[in-house]
Amino acid sequence: MQAQQAKSPETTANPLDRLAALLGDDMKKVNALIIRHMDSPVPLIPQIAAYLIAAGGKRIRPLLTIGAAQLYDDRSGRAHGLAACVEFIHTATLLHDDVVDESTQRRGKDSANLVFGNQASVLVGDFLFSRSFQLMTADGSLDVLRILSNASAVIAEGEVMQLAAAGDLATGMDQYNQIIAAKTAALFAAACEIGPVVAGQDKAQQEALRVYGHELGMAFQIADDILDYSAAQEKLGKTVGDDFREGKLTAPVIIALAETDATERAFWQRTMVDKAQEPADLAAAQAILRKHDALKRGADLARAHAAKAVESLAIVPESPLKPLLAALADYTVDREF
Ligand code: IPE
Ligand code: IPE
Ligand code: MG
Ligand code: MG
Repeated sequence: MQAQQAKSPETTANPLDRLAALLGDDMKKVNALIIRHMDSPVPLIPQIAAYLIAAGGKRIRPLLTIGAAQLYDDRSGRAHGLAACVEFIHTATLLHDDVVDESTQRRGKDSANLVFGNQASVLVGDFLFSRSFQLMTADGSLDVLRILSNASAVIAEGEVMQLAAAGDLATGMDQYNQIIAAKTAALFAAACEIGPVVAGQDKAQQEALRVYGHELGMAFQIADDILDYSAAQEKLGKTVGDDFREGKLTAPVIIALAETDATERAFWQRTMVDKAQEPADLAAAQAILRKHDALKRGADLARAHAAKAVESLAIVPESPLKPLLAALADYTVDREF
């Protein structure tokens, strides 16, 4: 991270807030597009979409799309519609993901599946996916269509891979990395790659931003999986322990399992494989993770990805946005956002 002298609020705010402030005018346009395109004559669609979209969310993916285009001083205006498209893909995956994960909290509110039911959540998720394709084709670039439609297919593969691996204590770090690369990093990568594409940059710049997004996404998901075991998760508007209850083998558990004894293995077998969980089990799982220092060691894995994200920016031309994107990568690891 670049050394900074923290003087004004602009330089003391965290990199995500600074990015949002810097790109505030563009994000207003993106939000207007999101609101316009989630409309439908079928009332339940805007109702559910608005329920989730109005609850906020960090908008990190559309910020990345706008930021990646502005790194190259893009004036085409195409990034706005594509940033909205990226957020639609993300919102669709959240609707589906909360059904699959049986989650009850999202963005600080009862999740859509809890309020409107699984069926409505799945169908409105399908609508938002389809809308995202309309926004892609409206842009008209086959390169953009290829990048975003690939990401969309890969996310679904990631969620299915994860479902298939649930409750399998043999899940290793390679398999976990493959899952999170697909379900999360693919959309971060695509969101970033389309910036230089719309700005008419060459393949080397496109690849640099794709790698930046991929590595940032890996760090982001590992941090999310760590937060799932920490009290900070509630500040983020999600419930602690969802992954544990679902039997999802994530980085902290994989780290602990690699050096586990027979008693601990029996614990993971009962709770994550047999799903015979009791109320005190989450605290017991957290204690085992603490014993193996698994959250900190997980954060180290995320930090390595953040470092690669920063490295990938080396060939990108200098601009005020570039150090901010680098700082965002580092910040993602220790985030409570
Ligand atoms: C949640 O993404 C899904 C993950 C990839 C962990 P965000 O943490 O970006 O969710 P919102 O959009 O800010 O709510
Ligand atoms: C990310 O995984 C989900 C998607 C990429 C759709 P999680 O299941 O960990 O995300 P959260 O924790 O529910 O936001
Ligand atoms: Mg989930
Ligand atoms: Mg999670």
